[in-house]
Amino acid sequence: MGKIHDFVLDGLDLRNKVILDAAVGAGVSTYFWAKAVHEQGGTSKIICVDNDLPQIWIDRIKKRLGEYSRYIELREADIFDLHFIKDESIDIVNCDDTIVFLNPRPLKLLTALKEFKRVLKPGGHLIITSEIPVESLENPDNEGQWRRWNLSKAIYDLKGETWSSEPLPEELKFALDILGFDVYAEKVFPSAKNSRHKEVMDEWRELMLKDIEEIPWDNELKGALNKAVNRVYDKVMSDGFLMNPSIYVLKCKKRKTT
Ligand SMILES: C[S@@+](CC[C@H](N)C(=O)[O-])C[C@H]1O[C@@H](n2cnc3c(N)ncnc32)[C@H](O)[C@@H]1O
Repeated sequence: MGKIHDFVLDGLDLRNKVILDAAVGAGVSTYFWAKAVHEQGGTSKIICVDNDLPQIWIDRIKKRLGEYSRYIELREADIFDLHFIKDESIDIVNCDDTIVFLNPRPLKLLTALKEFKRVLKPGGHLIITSEIPVESLENPDNEGQWRRWNLSKAIYDLKGETWSSEPLPEELKFALDILGFDVYAEKVFPSAKNSRHKEVMDEWRELMLKDIEEIPWDNELKGALNKAVNRVYDKVMSDGFLMNPSIYVLKCKKRKTT
């Protein structure tokens, strides 16, 4: 993960800036931003939003950031409606590992990108980090992640919801161009084995078993899905790793005149 954040932060002047972190999640990328702010003199602030920010997560994020917490403001908010942020008041938007959750229908993500554009100053930076899904089972290393991700999507479909929907880099670049952003740097970081998979899988299984309980289908189907979740869990545990998907980063600037 270090290399991705190095690329994300490379060349950015973080002095006297207002940064929007959308969304903060567990604060993994926020930590690197706050550390970089500190290293450049500690004169910037990071407004961190998330639409799911219970106290337990606030405590965890603050614990993760330690002394760098003083650079962040946490706020429960929906990325689609950042009304409390004035037009053209933000220097940099960081959107790390979140657009897949903002894209339940083909054009929905445009609304979020437009909100980023509204709050950004002309020439301001938008930095998006996202994933390219593992697409096939041809490589046996991919099996655990492929089954985990597609089973999650199927369970959410049965609930009438969307687990995630991944725009590919070319699609996102097309949308950014139409909206008035110029991409000035981009990079793909290839997929890699993640051997610290147990925590991810424990959390995933707990969430999926709860989601299955809530689907409006019969118990026979729920029983089959529970078994499928446990089989995927066992498969990843016996592999001893989970394949992390490839990650891409797009760094762009809001055009001064559009
Ligand atoms: C994978 S996490 C982000 C990871 C985070 N950037 C980090 O480095 O730890 C995705 C987050 O997006 C949040 N999210 C999803 N849809 C959102 C929305 N419409 N508005 C705000 N936050 C949203 C989820 O609650 C979740 O915490």
